[in-house]
Amino acid sequence: MSQAARVEKNRFPFTQYPVGWFQVGYSSELGPLGVQRVQYFGEDLVLFRGESGQPYLLDGYCPHLGAHMGCGGHVEKEAIECPFHAWKFDGTGVCTEIPYATKIPKKAKVHPWVVREVNGIIFAYHGVNGEEPPWEVPELPELSSDEWTPVRTVRFKIKSHNQEMAENSVDGPHFLYVHKALRAKTASAAIDGHIFRTFNKMEVDLTRWGMPDGQLEGSAQVTTHGFGFSVVRLSLLSEIITIATVTPIDEEYLDARFAFTVKKLDDESMTDLVVQQVVDDIASRCARTR
Ligand code: FES
Repeated sequence: MSQAARVEKNRFPFTQYPVGWFQVGYSSELGPLGVQRVQYFGEDLVLFRGESGQPYLLDGYCPHLGAHMGCGGHVEKEAIECPFHAWKFDGTGVCTEIPYATKIPKKAKVHPWVVREVNGIIFAYHGVNGEEPPWEVPELPELSSDEWTPVRTVRFKIKSHNQEMAENSVDGPHFLYVHKALRAKTASAAIDGHIFRTFNKMEVDLTRWGMPDGQLEGSAQVTTHGFGFSVVRLSLLSEIITIATVTPIDEEYLDARFAFTVKKLDDESMTDLVVQQVVDDIASRCARTR
């Protein structure tokens, strides 16, 4: 389908797939020499980890006779071996070996995706013309600090568009009705290149979390990097970080992942309670919108 036809078909006046960095997996899910079949941006892909520890993402179908390399393929050094006739492709998508031939056809290559591994997440860059990524995903030092809790995650398949997910950060009133804040207001919103920042003030009633403290003022600072990666810093009883990533699976569905960490309080049971309430809050809201 042509680009113009896609725009015509969509609900929005732009193409379905935005550019930027998008999560394609968690580091912990792709072990040494691991291979995964994944589907994003309407494409069948193979994600694998080389002997060096470097993750790679390639278009999944072998250019020889079309086997999906994510189904039964295995890794040798920095290359994935196709399960059908054992052709090997390195992380740049180039065929490096055909075990029963001396010549490698020039066309024996698959499209490579630019990949980074940051914050325990594997990202791929989705561009339009094969351009170099103009920005990088920032590293969050809190994720490797003992002062913060181990990361908890939840994941949903949602019928939506990245645009709709991004608009949530400037939707101040939703804090009242979805997250049950007593008061909420977007105090500021600003665009800085590929970054969009909002600052929301709010007041919540902690008794609904089973805590005796009652009403408490807090804030939510949302920093969105492109359309695929957001960091929400919630200041409420403790400091809470939510990493939200949203990756198009195809033209209808998104893979939405949320990773949470909380700055530990002196009272360990209180820390656990905060973690659980935040996870439950996001998990129950998303479950209703799937
Ligand atoms: S189909 Fe992959 S090597 Fe033949």
